[in-house]
Amino acid sequence: MKFFVDTAEIDQIKELNDLGMVDGVTTNPSLIAKSGRDILEVTKEICDLVDGPVSAEVVALDAEGMIAEGRKLAKIADNIAVKVPLTWAGLQACKTLTDEGTMVNVTLCFSANQALLAAKAGATFISPFIGRLDDINIDGLDLIEDIRTIYDNYGFETQILAASIRSANHMSDCAKIGADVATAPPAVIKAMANHVLTDKGLAGFMADIEKAGIKIL
Ligand code: G3P
Repeated sequence: MKFFVDTAEIDQIKELNDLGMVDGVTTNPSLIAKSGRDILEVTKEICDLVDGPVSAEVVALDAEGMIAEGRKLAKIADNIAVKVPLTWAGLQACKTLTDEGTMVNVTLCFSANQALLAAKAGATFISPFIGRLDDINIDGLDLIEDIRTIYDNYGFETQILAASIRSANHMSDCAKIGADVATAPPAVIKAMANHVLTDKGLAGFMADIEKAGIKIL
């Protein structure tokens, strides 16, 4: 499973990228607003930093506007994936931009039918939001599973990009189901390293190291 990092914070992307943990980056208008940076400027900086796809989201609501914005975003770098919402207009924009050779990430997906439409429109990525489904007591992981089944049934090449990931468990659950990509905030990716027995074991080793005065350097 590829790891995308869901942030527009350059320092945090760099830290994970230096460790080889970043296969791509996703941003959205809320993350850009949080960064306080100009969308074109910060997106260019992220594209220069990472090799993989960098999702940048359109702000128009109509297909024509999304296509024009998508074309402008695509000019930033070769690794841009234009992010469009899963609306009828978004699907129209997806088809046009895909036909022009631009990667498209169709976002705000909350149903298997929406994912089926995105694949038919040629999306490079479909972004089902699992955390936001969990928020309303619908199991977001069931949706990832349904989309996996549907795409495999028909050999759709659209990659399942699990989004709205809120916990380390979401990451391993998505990997078990076979999501192609999971995008998560840096804190969630770091939390994957945590285990209470690792902490306990290390505390035990440290006590013995101190008792025996073990030194290596
Ligand atoms: O990039 C979209 C996304 O991952 C949103 O996450 O936590 O705001 O639902 P969240």
